[in-house]
Amino acid sequence: MEAPIGVIDSGVGGLTVVKELLNRLPNEPIVYIGDDARCPYGPRSAEEVIQFTVEMASALSKMDIKMLVVACNTATAVALDILKDTFPFPIIGVIEPGARAALQASATGEIVVLGTVGTVNSGAYAEAIHLLSSRASVFQLACPEFVPIVESGRYKTNEVSGIIHQTLKPLQEVAFDTAILGCTHYPLLHDHIKAQLRSDVTIVSSANETVHDVEKALMAHALTSDAASPATPIFYTTGEVHEFRSIVSDWLEIEEPIVKQIKL
Ligand code: DGL
Repeated sequence: MEAPIGVIDSGVGGLTVVKELLNRLPNEPIVYIGDDARCPYGPRSAEEVIQFTVEMASALSKMDIKMLVVACNTATAVALDILKDTFPFPIIGVIEPGARAALQASATGEIVVLGTVGTVNSGAYAEAIHLLSSRASVFQLACPEFVPIVESGRYKTNEVSGIIHQTLKPLQEVAFDTAILGCTHYPLLHDHIKAQLRSDVTIVSSANETVHDVEKALMAHALTSDAASPATPIFYTTGEVHEFRSIVSDWLEIEEPIVKQIKL
């Protein structure tokens, strides 16, 4: 097999980026690690998130990946620079692409960032947005209950709409025209979140722009796959294979995905 692109997340959230990779770059082999056994990363210390993220990147490095996508905002916020200093392959995070997507979508420059406690406390989105546009205004809201809803496979049930309504309540006082789903788990809750926001608010996620960056980096480093047919992605989880497989199957519409357990 040709060298794959490695993708990491604390759990199933990075699948939202994989979905876009499969759509746009179907011939690129992908190997994914979700650290479901230690998910969520959001409430953890920066030191822990850095350690776990380096462990995943090291495991993928041993599988000879040609590039790494850190498909986790919490990990991107605290570990991206360290990863770049540690590993020889190109490494792409999701925060700068997410900031770009929000600024492209916003007419007023008033942007809300929904993210984990770790991402919000890091201030990484506000920094990335202000680097691109000093006039933008950013309101950040931590949504600690969202990731457990997704990880437990309850993202399609209506019983969660009350939690989502409660969490997003502070936004009723905020003027904004664009909301970033600043956690890769949140696109699985897109419809629930949309139902709680004004209809003229645009919801963006990092996935599109991140894959755009992956494409650019593949070309810049002459790493584009020359395979003539679609590759089969391989998924590893540190947690329960059964639950992970059912979310992969549902979200990526793959009937019999290859899902294995990995110890880090
Ligand atoms: N999917 C992750 C993110 O984008 C991490 C969520 C978590 O583990 O708390 O931030």
